[in-house]
Amino acid sequence: MEVTKVLHMNGGMGDASYAKNSLLQQKVILMTKSITDEAISSLYNNLSSRETICIADLGVAGSFYTRLFPSNSLHFVHSSYSLHWLSQVPDGIKNNKGNIYLTSTSPASVHKAYYEQFERDFVTFLKYRSEELMKNGRMVLTMLGRKNEDRFSQGCSYEWELLATTLKLLIAQESIDAEKVDSFNVPAYNPSPSEVMHIVEKERSFTIDILKTSEIQRNSCDDEKYDMAKSFRSVAEPLLVSHFGHDELNMDQVFHKYNQVIANDRKAMEKIMFVNVTISLTKIN
Ligand SMILES: C[S@@+](CC[C@H](N)C(=O)[O-])C[C@H]1O[C@@H](n2cnc3c(N)ncnc32)[C@H](O)[C@@H]1O
Repeated sequence: MEVTKVLHMNGGMGDASYAKNSLLQQKVILMTKSITDEAISSLYNNLSSRETICIADLGVAGSFYTRLFPSNSLHFVHSSYSLHWLSQVPDGIKNNKGNIYLTSTSPASVHKAYYEQFERDFVTFLKYRSEELMKNGRMVLTMLGRKNEDRFSQGCSYEWELLATTLKLLIAQESIDAEKVDSFNVPAYNPSPSEVMHIVEKERSFTIDILKTSEIQRNSCDDEKYDMAKSFRSVAEPLLVSHFGHDELNMDQVFHKYNQVIANDRKAMEKIMFVNVTISLTKIN
């Protein structure tokens, strides 16, 4: 799977589109707005009045694990809910049997492989952004993460566990090939604040101004049009299509089953807690 080619949310304005199902992500941007405001105000106060501020919000065209802009061309970089996506599924996780992501039953070697992939990717991201940002340029990044070092805290990964349950049910009714499910793994990692801090300090291009976590429960989006399965579908469908193919797996059938799995797990909504790790950085040189 070439992750950067398939990692887009569901496009358009249809029922299953990201545009119509990203209320939670919108709320997160509002929750972290004071950190973004502080970074932009402090940047602005140090500029000459005729300078144009160049800003990039990353997660649209081109992989942010490559060089995207000319050297020293940006004042401010923002990215929300994108950097927990890895550049690839980590190598060496074939023994993650029965799982499609990190869970409490994943072997320690699988946890290590996921963390090391995140570290490599985040260092790459920091290195390229440090080349593109001007001296004292600022960056505010929010990722889906963990509250602390407890690797087994359920958080948002519970959504993937529900999808794993769904796929197992589809195997049982012979709607999907078991081997194909076995080779499906989600290319994402939810870092803790100290993992993020450790990597920034090790890479050495930025100082940390603010590092904060916030939480939002899946069921806090009480808009009556909000539908958890649809919201999850807008994110997960492109990954599933790329791995299984449209012909092999009927997406309406998958998410119909996913809805049933949620309905049978009364506590599902409460168990899904999104932890946001937000970091505000200044480029050193
Ligand atoms: C959940 S969406 C977030 C979109 C928006 N920032 C928001 O808060 O609603 C995640 C975005 O990350 C992008 N993304 C994931 N990996 C990427 C990569 N390596 N390079 C650039 N964008 C990437 C996806 O294309 C997708 O648009």
